[in-house]
Amino acid sequence: MTIRWYPGHMSKALEQISELVRKIDLIIEVLDARLPYSSSNHLLEQVRRNKPCIKVLNKNDLADPAATRAWVQHFQKSSGVRALPLVAKNIPEVKSLVKLCKQLVPQRGNPGYPIRTMVVGIPNVGKSTLINTLAGKSIAKVGDRPAVTMRPQQIPLNNGILIFDTPGLLWPAMDDQGGAYRLAASGAIGANALDYTNVGVFAAAYMMRRYPDLLKERYKLTDLPETPYEVVEAVGRCLGCIMSGGVVDVHRAAETFLRELRAGKAGRISFEEPGTPEDVEAELLRF
Ligand code: G4P
Repeated sequence: MTIRWYPGHMSKALEQISELVRKIDLIIEVLDARLPYSSSNHLLEQVRRNKPCIKVLNKNDLADPAATRAWVQHFQKSSGVRALPLVAKNIPEVKSLVKLCKQLVPQRGNPGYPIRTMVVGIPNVGKSTLINTLAGKSIAKVGDRPAVTMRPQQIPLNNGILIFDTPGLLWPAMDDQGGAYRLAASGAIGANALDYTNVGVFAAAYMMRRYPDLLKERYKLTDLPETPYEVVEAVGRCLGCIMSGGVVDVHRAAETFLRELRAGKAGRISFEEPGTPEDVEAELLRF
């Protein structure tokens, strides 16, 4: 389901989160490790009420390790905030999240006196996957529905954690056009909101600047073409996206290129332009 956020939905969701924050000990905010800035919602800080917050940088298997390290350091400068990169299906890594919860709320953490937490994040960052791993079984999917349609649900885990499952849905930070494109390139928002070819060309331009060697290696390019559009064409030729007459099907090439990047086929990449938190903030200040 495609989510459309309207001001009414947004304020209602934030109000619900703000109410729930009163009742909990700790917030688990799930971010996409490939774009920790654009997959966050900065309004959460306003309703956090100084409760400890763990920023889970999920999908760490797909992200550039150097960029992730920089983000972890950046987030941990904020008081009460800890950052933990992980892969939501990886049981040992998720166990380290439980351990961190217990470090941050040492006065609680047993089944009779559990740590009350909520898992929040934008759609598709892996909230359900994480909750399922935490629970050790598949439970109701959080799903990508606006928070206003959800009903509160408590999930007691046998490891001393109680999850308030909802409302957990935030909308992404799209403070600038680049944010929307980064989210679309990584698959965090549906590319149907933006034209596939445009997103593919955006991703090609980004890859040319940040990861030229990965691009050359994956698509067997000795030299990079001059323009991002030509890169998409070259990728299309390499992947066999050819129409009759030998012309590259650029739309299909862009779509396949994006699918490959999202699946990590070209290597571990981070989509946040240009990759360090300070640079992203400087870039945003220019808008
Ligand atoms: P949400 O509740 O926040 O909306 O996200 P959800 O858990 O539904 O996860 C969205 C997609 O991200 C799923 O893929 C899921 O498998 C994938 N995912 C979650 N965590 C990780 C991770 O750490 N690494 C990687 N590589 N992928 C992750 P999907 O294709 O939509 O579903 P499925 O076919 O995997 O079931």
